[in-house]
Amino acid sequence: MLVAGNWKMFKGPEEARAFCRGLRDLALPGDVDVVVCPPYVSLGQAVQVLAGTEIGVFAQNCHWAVDGAFTGEVSASMLLELGVYGTIVGHSERRQLFGDTDETVARRAAAALAAGLHVIACVGETEAVLRRQLSVLDHDDNLVVAYEPVWAIGTGKTATPELAQEAHEVVKSVLDVPVLYGGSVKPGNARELLAQAAVDGALVGGASLELEAFEAICQAGSLS
Ligand code: PGA
Repeated sequence: MLVAGNWKMFKGPEEARAFCRGLRDLALPGDVDVVVCPPYVSLGQAVQVLAGTEIGVFAQNCHWAVDGAFTGEVSASMLLELGVYGTIVGHSERRQLFGDTDETVARRAAAALAAGLHVIACVGETEAVLRRQLSVLDHDDNLVVAYEPVWAIGTGKTATPELAQEAHEVVKSVLDVPVLYGGSVKPGNARELLAQAAVDGALVGGASLELEAFEAICQAGSLS
């Protein structure tokens, strides 16, 4: 079971440090892998504060080149140098707002995996889109897919547990990797979503910004 908090463009270094200190001092369940995904500028603080804990720090994106003339981008080797453990790629906000395509997402994922980062690759609705987005990804022991119905992201609308289960089965039939559910996961709905057999964890946006809510979701993942 993996619970990853995607902070999106929230929490600069100071806030990140305070949040990670709080997180470090919680008694999180031992059977849940907990990950935070701060913005680039806060990764260093998160890595420092969480050093020596089981909590992983992931970036929210990663470029495929080692270095080069790519203004605004960050490479896997730079993330590794910072002590970052993995990265999200292909979040729907990257695809919708910043021009990421199946091809660029595949390149980001492949480069990050090759460099030794763990990867959470996001895919979304509909089934045809899911299959298309998955078709460019290759199996890897360090790859996890997050199924995120776009209509459920930041909207307060959540897929029913049955719908999530069905979509996750589709994902697994194409690519046999752990599958996280993402889209308005909250303390109140986490347990039943995470109880589905094909739901291997959650990618949490808004609710991961508050320590208490994030802790509750991590607890909900325990023993399910
Ligand atoms: P949300 O975001 O939990 O705020 O809906 C999910 C995501 O975009 O990862």
